[in-house]
Amino acid sequence: MFIYFLIFITIFCFLYYFFTRTFNHWKARHVKGPTPIPFFGNFIDVFFRRKHVGVLYSELYNQYPDEKVVGLYRMTSPTLLIRDLDIVKQVLIKDFDYFPDRGVYYSKKQLGDNLVHADVRVMKVLRKHLSSVFTAGKLKANFEVLASRADKFVRYLENATLKDSEVNTLPAFRKFGIDSITMVQFGIDVDPYNDNKHVCDLLDKAIQTPTYFLELELLFPGILLKFNLSLFPANIAKFCKNIIDIGTKLEAVSKTDSNRIIEVLIGLRRQGNVSSGKVTEGEKELWMEVTDDVLAGQVFVFYFAGYGNNSLLGTYAMYHLAKNPDVQEKMIHEIDDVLRKHGGKFSYEALKEMKYLQMVFDETMRMHPLTNSVSRNVGRDIQLDGTDFVLKKNSILVISPYAIQHDEKYYPEPEEFKPERFSAENAKERHPCAMVSFGLGPRRCLGTRFAQLQFGICMVKVFSKFRVECSKNTVEKITYSPMRLLLSPSEDIYLRLVRRDTL
Ligand code: HEM
Repeated sequence: MFIYFLIFITIFCFLYYFFTRTFNHWKARHVKGPTPIPFFGNFIDVFFRRKHVGVLYSELYNQYPDEKVVGLYRMTSPTLLIRDLDIVKQVLIKDFDYFPDRGVYYSKKQLGDNLVHADVRVMKVLRKHLSSVFTAGKLKANFEVLASRADKFVRYLENATLKDSEVNTLPAFRKFGIDSITMVQFGIDVDPYNDNKHVCDLLDKAIQTPTYFLELELLFPGILLKFNLSLFPANIAKFCKNIIDIGTKLEAVSKTDSNRIIEVLIGLRRQGNVSSGKVTEGEKELWMEVTDDVLAGQVFVFYFAGYGNNSLLGTYAMYHLAKNPDVQEKMIHEIDDVLRKHGGKFSYEALKEMKYLQMVFDETMRMHPLTNSVSRNVGRDIQLDGTDFVLKKNSILVISPYAIQHDEKYYPEPEEFKPERFSAENAKERHPCAMVSFGLGPRRCLGTRFAQLQFGICMVKVFSKFRVECSKNTVEKITYSPMRLLLSPSEDIYLRLVRRDTL
């Protein structure tokens, strides 16, 4: 009996030591932060899916108003939450070479080489080639396809509201997001409108439900790469490879100009090995082999970023427009005015003139940044500006866009929806890092302008036909679901769509 007791105590002591061994990290550096719990660190509510990680970062940010940085533990991994905007600037822009990666590495055969999670070498090569689909000329060339997809969306809304004007906004906008990204970037017509149990909805669940592989990596850093494990289920990589197969067949018959990511990707695969080129004199040229796994990773990012963000953005914008009829009125007024000025014709140039619509986009992104954090891995030891300790290589830093963008120091009355905050005069008064929904610096979001275009076209088409109002089922306040990767609403967002021609 005693021997079992001894074994039990030994195992217990070993596990206790192992799952608390890092917990002196921040104290030793005199960095303030919450007390960690063995095994979970400060992540217990995230682990049990009681709180979205984005909400946790925001709460921790608010608990330490006088600190520039807060030391926390994601499970047993020490992580530094940056509060100070000058440090945000140092990390994302000024000293970017010290913080080139995001520090999330997993199986390269299972989407791990996607541009968002790729290491800096792969990033430099891919970014050089993939940026070509987002030049002003290419975006302009996307306008008509996006506009025709938005027309289809409006027809869907017209039919859906014939009997009942109330719409469950997010699933509706997801259809537009999927339809527009698959057509514009992959040339594939998936028609998500005609099937309520569409494969894209199943995929959405598979992509957006957080798995426990991240927690595993945080407890045993390096385990995912070592055992070829991924953050995402295997069927998603399979889906992305199918898109490449279909795209290859379509490309062989269509031979279109390469406005789409799929054509750029197939072109890279044809070359086999591609390089980063030399941006500056003396810079080392980097090379990489473009395999089907690399292509699948990029399809994944473009597909996911293209519909996931867009559908949430559309939903949140509609919600705040319904809650703020004066803002909605002003936006509709601008849309009508600009279209009238252009003889009723909606074009890329007309969209560019809709400044208030752009402010609605910015304010929606401020209130709901969608991403839970912008993270960076320390590539070389460095001291952060205004701190007195050295951050070691491989430390992880996180920035919380939600917390910064709801801090009344930068945005008075942060819970109020006020697009005027983003007028040119008001924006220039703020710290340039007070808006980080798209990240900043050399690794900022590649698709920002595409996201603006996709949103702008959709809004103009929808609000040329409808006004939006709250219904009896509209939630009073939006809370975020811990069961989704992006900052997504816990509740369905029901709104009433009223046709403008019947008013
Ligand atoms: C509202 C829409 C979107 C939001 C809020 C968003 C947000 C972000 C954020 C926060 C990052 C990380 C930036 C950083 O670490 O500094 C990022 C990276 C990225 N986004 Fe987006 N994104 C959006 C739309 C898109 C779209 C439509 C695409 C492509 C179709 C896209 C492609 C990418 C790529 C490729 C990266 C990785 C860039 C790199 O590491 O070099 N995003 N995005």
